[in-house]
Amino acid sequence: MKSYHLTVLPGDGIGPEIMDAALSVLDLVGQDFNVQFDYDEALFGGCSIDKHGVPVTDETLKKCKQSDAVLLGAVGGPKWDDQPHDKKPEAGLLKLREVLGLYANLRPAKIYNALLDASSLRPSVIRKADVMVVRELTGGIYFGQPRGMDEDKAWNTLTYSKHEVERIARTAFELARKRDNRVTSVHKANVLESSQFWRDVVEEVHKEYSDVFLNEMYVDNAAMQLVRDPKQFDVIVTQNLFGDILSDISAMITGSLGMLPSASLGEKHAMYEPVHGTAPEIAGKNKANPLAMIGSVAMMLDYTFDMPEAAAMVYDAISEVLELGFRTEDIATRNTSLVSTTGMRDLILEKCSDKSGTIIEMVRMSYEG
Ligand code: IPM
Ligand code: MN
Repeated sequence: MKSYHLTVLPGDGIGPEIMDAALSVLDLVGQDFNVQFDYDEALFGGCSIDKHGVPVTDETLKKCKQSDAVLLGAVGGPKWDDQPHDKKPEAGLLKLREVLGLYANLRPAKIYNALLDASSLRPSVIRKADVMVVRELTGGIYFGQPRGMDEDKAWNTLTYSKHEVERIARTAFELARKRDNRVTSVHKANVLESSQFWRDVVEEVHKEYSDVFLNEMYVDNAAMQLVRDPKQFDVIVTQNLFGDILSDISAMITGSLGMLPSASLGEKHAMYEPVHGTAPEIAGKNKANPLAMIGSVAMMLDYTFDMPEAAAMVYDAISEVLELGFRTEDIATRNTSLVSTTGMRDLILEKCSDKSGTIIEMVRMSYEG
């Protein structure tokens, strides 16, 4: 039996509850597909600050480096807002991204038909929208030096090297080939040298991918186009800060931040986490929506463990449970059935075991000829 080792970082707020739900789903998938997943849990974010005084310890970083993939719940909360900049939970996240070399952040925003009414945009605008934001995650203004502030001024630096732009462009083109074969490179080349450079390097890499359609867009226009007509986009590739902003916009097209998974990939490591935050106001109340965390597990099955059928089983279970009208509080509307975090988990488990029954049956039939 294949066996994989994961580091699990439940984090703060609703993190532990949604992680529990997602791990139950992963356990079931493991049984169905005859793969063993074992977990090593560690403190990360605010809970690590409380215990160790830092958002991430060297020991936790080491664990993450030694595992086949990292699953992260959510970090942060008002309790730690007054910490100095480098001791905030967010600083732990940036450190983890940097140390693991997670340069490619994939944030899919796909509309579930059952949730068409949940968006603040008209159903006709968002129906069939399926956008993948590929955000550069370990460079740009988030990490550039020098940075700092004194009493009279504050400064940050935006730098991109050729290597950094080339590899993220490749990620985007490769992904597009598996989707609708279109990439939009988003930048601000009318103002910034770093963006002119970005544009040119992406065009250069595109020569290796001439079968993929490439277009360019200034970031201000892209923000507007995303809410005007999201269907025009397939893959968007952009720098760290622009990707941070555009992925929140694209998330809202789907109506619920609570639904969206993400993957952060590097050459050697990978981390999967929901896009949403820690929702401290509902933490511990069994109300949180576990679907983004469960979706993140599905992305992990697909990207790290090359188990597309297992991933599809989980995604299908999510759509079907939504089609049946079950909703956690964040996405509930009239005429839907309200369920708790564990209730939603059980529904997904039930759907996945239905499916695995079918899969097992199909395999059996193929043996029997
Ligand atoms: C995100 C978050 C982080 C970011 C914060 C928490 C550091 O907003 O993952 O999008 O800005 O990258
Ligand atoms: Mn963000």
